Amino acid sequence: MSETWTFICASEELLPGEMKTAFDEVTDAAIVVFNLDGELYALEDQCTHEEFELSAGAINPVEGSVECILHGARFDIRDGSALCAPAYTPVPKFPVKRENGGIWARDNRD
Ligand code: FES
Repeated sequence: MSETWTFICASEELLPGEMKTAFDEVTDAAIVVFNLDGELYALEDQCTHEEFELSAGAINPVEGSVECILHGARFDIRDGSALCAPAYTPVPKFPVKRENGGIWARDNRD
């Protein structure tokens, strides 16, 4: 499991209702970090239906979800769970933190 944190962006560059992406420094996994009402959440930036980038879709701040732009699957930003068809498998959730003025996340899968 990687212990290396990947820099996502400066803290002030990710405002509530926004998302930012980066590639994990070790595993090269695509990571998307969301700011939902000031709380940060990191998911793999890949829809579990047909592996499209979730970051191409839109955030629903009321539901706390992101909608895949390709076929409309929605995922809970807070835990990655699939909320509707055509996706049924959750998106992996990653650790995220604020430190030294930046936002950091890492792919913590084995
Ligand atoms: S690829 Fe995301 S809903 Fe189909």
